[in-house]
Amino acid sequence: MKRVNGLTVLATAALALAFVTPALADGDPAKGAMVFQKCHVCHEIGPGAKNSIGPVLNGVVGRHSGIYPGYSYSDANKKSGIVWTVQELQTYLQNPSKLVPGTKMMFPGLNKKSDIDNVIAYLQTFDKDGNPVKK
Ligand code: HEC
Repeated sequence: MKRVNGLTVLATAALALAFVTPALADGDPAKGAMVFQKCHVCHEIGPGAKNSIGPVLNGVVGRHSGIYPGYSYSDANKKSGIVWTVQELQTYLQNPSKLVPGTKMMFPGLNKKSDIDNVIAYLQTFDKDGNPVKK
């Protein structure tokens, strides 16, 4: 019986690892720039970006939800308590209102995992001021 439990624990650990690994998103920023066309309808990014229908996305990867200055967020977003890590963004961009019910981001989500990883990689090329991130 003990052995079976041990195996179960191992299997669970392996599963957890399988889900954690993609957090190191290895998308292609150039392809992500194309995907971002879909976001650009509502979001600005880069030098001089301004809040629009949605908040400025400069430096959003690693940023706490609902804090970009001067943007009027929904309560749903502000109370979500989310920090936009790669992993949270992967979930969010698949279906925003599933992760944050009541969000005012009216976007059905991206279907392709590669599009999601690529657009996150693109977001990561901008620092919080919209300048290119130095490598
Ligand atoms: C139809 C307009 C629209 C589109 C298209 C859209 N968004 Fe949004 N987005 C919003 C709005 C509005 C909010 C504010 C949500 C709230 O307050 O509930 C938001 C919020 C966000 C947030 C949370 C920011 C924060 O500071 O908490 C992220 C991240 C985000 N969008 C990324 C994206 C990405 C990436 C895309 C493209 C794949 C995209 N959005 C497409 C309207 C849009």
